[in-house]
Amino acid sequence: MSRPLRSRTWFEGSHRNNFIHRGWLRNQGTPSDQFDGRPVIGICNTWSELTPCNAHLRELADHVRRGVLDAGGYPLEFPVMSLGESLMRPTTMLFRNLVSMDVEESIRANPLDGVVLMAGCDKTTPALLMGAASVDLPAVLVSGGPMLNGKFRGRDIGSGTSLWEFSEQVRAGEMSLDAFLDAEIGMNRSAGHCMSMGTASTMACLSEAMGVTLPHNGALPAVDARRQTLARLSGRRIVDLVKQDLRLSQVLDRRSFLNAAVACSALGGSTNAIVHLLALAGRLGVSFTLDDWEMAAHDVPCLVDLMPTGRFLMEDFCYAGGVPALMVELGDFVDRSAASVWTGTLGASLAGARNDNRDVIRPLCDPVAPAGGVAVLRGNLAERGAVIKTSTASPALMEHTARAVVFTDAADMRAKVDDPDLDVRPDDILVLQNVGPRGYPGFPEVGNLPIPKRLVQIGVRDMVRISDGRMSGTAFGTVVLHVAPEAAVGGALALVRSGDRIALSVSARRLDLMLEPEELAARRAAWTPAPGPASGYAQLYTQHVLQADEGADFDFLVGCRGSEPAADSH
Ligand code: FES
Repeated sequence: MSRPLRSRTWFEGSHRNNFIHRGWLRNQGTPSDQFDGRPVIGICNTWSELTPCNAHLRELADHVRRGVLDAGGYPLEFPVMSLGESLMRPTTMLFRNLVSMDVEESIRANPLDGVVLMAGCDKTTPALLMGAASVDLPAVLVSGGPMLNGKFRGRDIGSGTSLWEFSEQVRAGEMSLDAFLDAEIGMNRSAGHCMSMGTASTMACLSEAMGVTLPHNGALPAVDARRQTLARLSGRRIVDLVKQDLRLSQVLDRRSFLNAAVACSALGGSTNAIVHLLALAGRLGVSFTLDDWEMAAHDVPCLVDLMPTGRFLMEDFCYAGGVPALMVELGDFVDRSAASVWTGTLGASLAGARNDNRDVIRPLCDPVAPAGGVAVLRGNLAERGAVIKTSTASPALMEHTARAVVFTDAADMRAKVDDPDLDVRPDDILVLQNVGPRGYPGFPEVGNLPIPKRLVQIGVRDMVRISDGRMSGTAFGTVVLHVAPEAAVGGALALVRSGDRIALSVSARRLDLMLEPEELAARRAAWTPAPGPASGYAQLYTQHVLQADEGADFDFLVGCRGSEPAADSH
């Protein structure tokens, strides 16, 4: 053991405070030997019935607990705020940083030597990793796992992806409401999170690719008994990590982040992962920027044929071999010297991995898409960057110059998008302003704004859409997201008016508003910011949230503050 356990300062000794620290825990039937110097492991749980994707995490935490006990540790489970994508308003992203604060302060304030992070639904994974990174104790992430494949009238359907597709069909009059409701009943039929390659699956898989989970954490279905085994082994492993004093900052370095960008491209993963990993890198002090993401992922083909990019779902990905099989297929794109909580190096953790279904995980010589990832765009419309997921974009729209149709905010969009009198043509570019981190506030997933109903009814299924918001990882289309600086802080996006022309060139990585500099300057001079929230958490959020290219973290949370509490209690 390379340094004394921090829990000893709570439990060792005969001072009055030691009496308090040990004595009150005895009301849970705790015997004296639990205070004998064994590692104390926190099981940080985002279980909640309001987060359906995480509703099984109490049971899974019991398997972690058994593992900790197997290895001679003392497990103590504690709750943190949970974020359920399907229920929370206005958007869970408003609260990701809040949860990270809950996690950070809960770990630091308590007698914990290491922590197992129990996550599932989209924001719970980055929130837990960010909070833990700012304390920097040994940590292992255990994901809840994806749901079984959805079923609808004899075929597989994917969370989110099929919903977006069906709801457009209902709007176009091509699907009955009866069929739509049948799909609702069959889509989410087991415990677990969304089973398409949405943000939850992406973050679980990228956590594995970064070495902060055990192998196969990303894809094992929530109800597969092997996930319970993984949880138990994670419980055992964290005790070892505490004994080695292998902290999160020693696992997650620049190599891990570059591997994650590579894996995200190969997965056809969610654009949201970019924001989350930029924020996590900021907590760890790792040099990793939007340009690094582009550099690492630029040439990496999409190999995993999962919705929303492709055909299959997470169950299929698991049976094909999951993340280890993918990392092996990626060959030299992966830096195997990066660390792993399981085996020391990522390379060692891939031993024995194999691809059992090359329809689902394709080889490099036969990819799903030649460049699977995210392109980072810059130009006078996105001076600090914007992103587009090329694997789900329409090839014909990736080089496109056209007239802008502008919605000034989400409410304006909802009010007008289905108006039969809206002046919009199939080749126009839809622009949505004021849905960025500060503008909404909270950076919601509205960037894949619906195609105007009048156009849906004549068969239009994709248009270029540009916003400072995000989109669900399960969504698709030629959608430019995360424009920075956002409209609410005076970015050029705020200055676009209907009728202006915009040029998108994915090949040149450009996004430009085709206005003379003098006109742009005049509009900028006339722009005034809207007032933000007057009180409460929303005020704190808008005053401190950073832009998308910095991960939308709070400025005062960037960095690691270590594990020392400010002072003793009592
Ligand atoms: Fe929780 Fe999709 S709603 S992961």
